[in-house]
Amino acid sequence: MKLDERLMLCASFVRDGIKAVDVGTDHAYLPVYLVKSGKIKEAVASDVREGPLSNAKKNIQKNGLSEQIRTVLSDGLAEITPAQADDIIIAGMGGELIIKIIDAACWLKDSDKHLILQPMTRAEELREYLCKNGFYIQKEKACISCKKTYSVMLCVYDGKIRECSDKFRYVGNLDQDGSPEAERYIDVVCEKLKKKIKGFEKGMPEYDSFYRLIGILKRENDLK
Ligand SMILES: C[S@@+](CC[C@H](N)C(=O)[O-])C[C@H]1O[C@@H](n2cnc3c(N)ncnc32)[C@H](O)[C@@H]1O
Repeated sequence: MKLDERLMLCASFVRDGIKAVDVGTDHAYLPVYLVKSGKIKEAVASDVREGPLSNAKKNIQKNGLSEQIRTVLSDGLAEITPAQADDIIIAGMGGELIIKIIDAACWLKDSDKHLILQPMTRAEELREYLCKNGFYIQKEKACISCKKTYSVMLCVYDGKIRECSDKFRYVGNLDQDGSPEAERYIDVVCEKLKKKIKGFEKGMPEYDSFYRLIGILKRENDLK
């Protein structure tokens, strides 16, 4: 069984032999892969809607994994207990929703728990939230799937409140990664910033800070 690059990257961040919860699982592709490949023995596949959860159940049954993967109808982590979850995967959702889900589950403030996060939008807001709320981004990698770039973050709570520079908000530490995927991610961020900048006049604080940031990210000041 193969996953796309995005879910494959999420899977690679999961620790061997732990209990995983996939929040917003939809078809449960990720937990099915993790258990079927032998990386973990049990998982919870959860979703807030009946429809996706029913897709998950069908896929789990089809793969003969009903004993190992439990499905739970849950808004975020509301119906999940800390004992069920060592690694918590929240993928394929907007950054704002991911923040809401983390914020509502205070038991995530535990250094034994690993959060594996893959925002579809507003990654910069998510990074800022993590910095300001004591979560450390231990690892972040980018991938390309169906010509789109994504980033996956592995986060652990250590209680330290961190400064979040503009650069960190937009690309984390991906500028030090050096992989073609990370470089592509940075290019896409720069393109978005260039579009944003058009809404501001030269000399306005927003214009100046975005301009400066693009220069830092592209390691040059080539904005025309
Ligand atoms: C685009 S799918 C992503 C599926 C899979 N995680 C992936 O990355 O491919 C988003 C899923 O999140 C679920 N979802 C949305 N809000 C949620 C919430 N508050 N709690 C749990 N699941 C939620 C949706 O029902 C949907 O199945």
